[in-house]
Amino acid sequence: MDILKQRINEEGIVLNNRVLKVDSFLNHQIDPKLFVAIGKEIAARFKDAGIERIVTIEASGIAIALQAAIEMDVPLVFARKKKSILMTDDVYHSVVYSYTKEENYDVTISKRFLPAGEKVLIIDDFLASGEAAMGLAKLVESAGDTVEGIAIVIEKSFQPGRERLERAGYNVQSLVRIKAFEDNHCVFMED
Ligand code: G4P
Ligand code: NA
Ligand code: NA
Repeated sequence: MDILKQRINEEGIVLNNRVLKVDSFLNHQIDPKLFVAIGKEIAARFKDAGIERIVTIEASGIAIALQAAIEMDVPLVFARKKKSILMTDDVYHSVVYSYTKEENYDVTISKRFLPAGEKVLIIDDFLASGEAAMGLAKLVESAGDTVEGIAIVIEKSFQPGRERLERAGYNVQSLVRIKAFEDNHCVFMED
């Protein structure tokens, strides 16, 4: 997605050849027109998949997933992150390990908002280790739904996320794939 690569080149800040900060248009300030375009691109990639519901995770996934949900005209639900939960039987949950915080957290979705038997599209902003996406996929499957795909805005292809998800059988669609960081600049993979 060329307009996204352009914004990353113009405004992204790579820290220690490790983390890409895109706070000026994606993770803090949000560019509404760019988000509309992102939603349209995700919808186009899954137009024949029969998607019935979108699942994302707070916080940064929500605004992205909303645009796709409007385009695809399907309901959207976001998973909540909690340090740990008292087990109740009214939520589905999954445990995710955060490499940045070096701790586990629980992600939960109320059973009311994840009916069984649906085709679900998972959406998130970044794909790095794939922990969050894998946790969401397991959660969705525990509800008796099918994960038809995982849509990501920015993939760090040199981290193991995509490989993990593909090995587990998921269709991963990333709008931009970063092959490497070199001298604190992004090297993109060819489309
Ligand atoms: P994972 O999501 O792939 O499992 O990796 P990790 O635990 O390391 O990620 C922690 C958080 O950092 C996640 O957001 C993830 O999306 C984000 N992240 C990973 N790599 C990058 C990067 O290079 N740049 C930016 N900007 N974010 C990255 P989160 O904690 O769930 O936060 P939120 O933004 O959804 O609130
Ligand atoms: Na994030
Ligand atoms: Na995220």
